Amino acid sequence: MQVLVVGGGAREHALVWALSQSPIVDAVVATPGNPGIAAGAHCLSFDDAMESLDSFDLAVIGPEAPLVDGLADEMREQGLAVFGPSAAAARLEGSKAWMKDVLAGAEIPTARHATFTGAQEHAALAYLETLPGLYVIKTDGLAAGKGVLVTESLPDAREAVREYLAGRAFGDAGRTVVIEEGLTGPELSLLVLCDGTLTGVPLAPAQDFKRLGDGDLGPNTGGVGAYSPVPVATDALVQQIMERAVTPTLSRLAAFDIEYRGVLYAGLMLTPEGPKVIEYNVRFGDPECEVVVPRLASDLAVHCAEAATGRLETPVRFRDDACVTVVLASEGYPTAPRTGDLIAGLDSAAATDDDVIVFHAGTARTDAGIVTAGGRVLAVTALGTDVDAARTKAYAAADAISWRGKYCRRDIAAAPST
Ligand code: AMP
Ligand code: GLY
Repeated sequence: MQVLVVGGGAREHALVWALSQSPIVDAVVATPGNPGIAAGAHCLSFDDAMESLDSFDLAVIGPEAPLVDGLADEMREQGLAVFGPSAAAARLEGSKAWMKDVLAGAEIPTARHATFTGAQEHAALAYLETLPGLYVIKTDGLAAGKGVLVTESLPDAREAVREYLAGRAFGDAGRTVVIEEGLTGPELSLLVLCDGTLTGVPLAPAQDFKRLGDGDLGPNTGGVGAYSPVPVATDALVQQIMERAVTPTLSRLAAFDIEYRGVLYAGLMLTPEGPKVIEYNVRFGDPECEVVVPRLASDLAVHCAEAATGRLETPVRFRDDACVTVVLASEGYPTAPRTGDLIAGLDSAAATDDDVIVFHAGTARTDAGIVTAGGRVLAVTALGTDVDAARTKAYAAADAISWRGKYCRRDIAAAPST
């Protein structure tokens, strides 16, 4: 089987890494890929990939933006089997206001919220006053993972509402906002394989570290570390999330004649009143993918092909080993990351232990060597007999890598993220 992976971050590096190990896969090609992916797989420009679609048997689409823009539909129209939802289904991530409507229609627990558009600034500011002390403002549309503000400051929340609605903060993506009550409790990411039926297959839960600083302080990021398994996420809890959130969501989509093929990522807050959905993403989480996929004992290519072409039948199995990933970021991330710094120690990091894998996120190859090319630069990942062992190996490898301004949290997986 020839597999095309769309995307060029650490998530796609992890997908290519796993798919390449499958006995049913002859070759994996990535578009656009990155220097880490290029070390083990062929990388193509997007235009070249689209022109050679008939040479592939399966496409796996990594990021949300092309899914929301209808790339899965376009590829399916050309006869390719695709692991990734249609544009209609990807609206779960592309419009937070619509996602909330879907949740409400299926009576799925979520944060109290309301949606406002540009002309409703007055009502939006008044709604803020009704919330109890922790304010969450979200752009309706995609904002590269940066459109959510969580703040205890009412003046900051008011300012954000004005900036978003006026289109000054995130352009059109923010001209509609969802305002919601802040929830507290540990967060959990549950990635669920879906084959177009109402029966999703959950993968091992993971926990992502969203805040930039140790102790869960500082700004929200796309995620600066993750681990799996998560002790609090028992089988019973996963079953409860499937029954109360994921299956009703798939049913609600089916009522709109929308089938979901690909991975549905439920972002949950484990509140004292039970799990509540805070977001749906229509793709593997990044960095969750980097800790879930290495733990798979069954064949990712088989699961993706079954989900894309028919029915999920092969049981999903996980190793008992734990996995931890530590994201190495550029100075200035997440607001203004500096790029172009030469990275040293990549080979020695990979050599620290057989169980270490260095996934590339934002890197570029130059004549001088591999340089930083984004905010999140590398996801340094390790498997171990338990979370502590995996964390020790991941940090030993992370510490072998250096560049000017390299930053990472020191407490990934040291304690559950709250
Ligand atoms: P989202 O883009 O909806 O995934 O939100 C990004 C992050 O913002 C989440 O992973 C949470 O850390 C945080 N967040 C979103 N909604 C809430 C909420 N209602 N209460 C507290 N934190 C939230
Ligand atoms: N790690 C959060 C996300 O992928 O959206």
